[in-house]
Amino acid sequence: MSDAILETAGLTKEFRGFVAVNDVNLSIRRGTIHGLIGPNGAGKTTCFNLLTKFLQPTRGTIRYDGRDITGMKPAEVARLGLVRSFQISAVFPHLTVLENVRVSLQRSRGGSFDFWRPDSILRSYDARARELLEDVGLSAYANLTAGELPYGRKRALEIATTLALDPVMMLLDEPTAGMTHDDVGRIVSLIRRVSAGRTVLLVEHNLTVVSGLCDFITVLARGRVLAEGDYATVARNPDVVTAYLGTEAPTEAAHG
Ligand SMILES: Nc1ncnc2c1ncn2[C@@H]1O[C@H](COP(=O)(O)OP(=O)(O)O)[C@@H](O)[C@H]1O
Ligand SMILES: [Mg+2]
Repeated sequence: MSDAILETAGLTKEFRGFVAVNDVNLSIRRGTIHGLIGPNGAGKTTCFNLLTKFLQPTRGTIRYDGRDITGMKPAEVARLGLVRSFQISAVFPHLTVLENVRVSLQRSRGGSFDFWRPDSILRSYDARARELLEDVGLSAYANLTAGELPYGRKRALEIATTLALDPVMMLLDEPTAGMTHDDVGRIVSLIRRVSAGRTVLLVEHNLTVVSGLCDFITVLARGRVLAEGDYATVARNPDVVTAYLGTEAPTEAAHG
């Protein structure tokens, strides 16, 4: 078993001649929380979409758990345990919080939505769904419709629906975007908790979140890898400081 669970070689994505991701070699170690950061427009989301197979690369390869997944579809890599949170745009606003998690559990077992199964079978998912809600701190919200949840709690629900798929590796794109300070704190401890025994790739804007969570960080700028290392190492890299200057201050204050 290789130390790296996800690796890219020469990963490149062009949009009509514009190179959004340029010859990126990533190596993500098993069991770590790996941060992908960089100023706006650096190519983080494009890279994320390549890794989760929502975009097909122009060039380069992606290997997951020893296998070439470059040509695979999102659902295929999800079945291998590489799961993107919000992949499912999983939250059905008119279903309750509990029902949303139950639907994800059904999907992970059966691969399809079978709303027409006997009640007895549906109820068998309830116990597991309630456990997952407990894990993400949503027990008190179980019977609310998902649409009624406050924003920060929706993100927690999305993480619960992701966990229902029992991922080996989770990819999260800016899980704290647009959150209040309290919600950010809650999601950070949630990510720390659910990362146990898993690998997490975290695309994140809020550098306080990154410094608190990530074991290893890759800094992208203009589509290329600018620096790598732990937070202290990349934060004192002059190229990183320069890349962030003029776009945004690399402090928590810039993002609430
Ligand atoms: N579908 C697309 N078509 C054309 N250009 C795109 C597309 N998606 C992203 N880009 C461009 O690629 C660059 C990187 O974007 P993105 O990956 O969203 O950056 P980040 O997430 O780091 O802010 C930006 O200049 C963006 O305008
Ligand atoms: Mg982005």
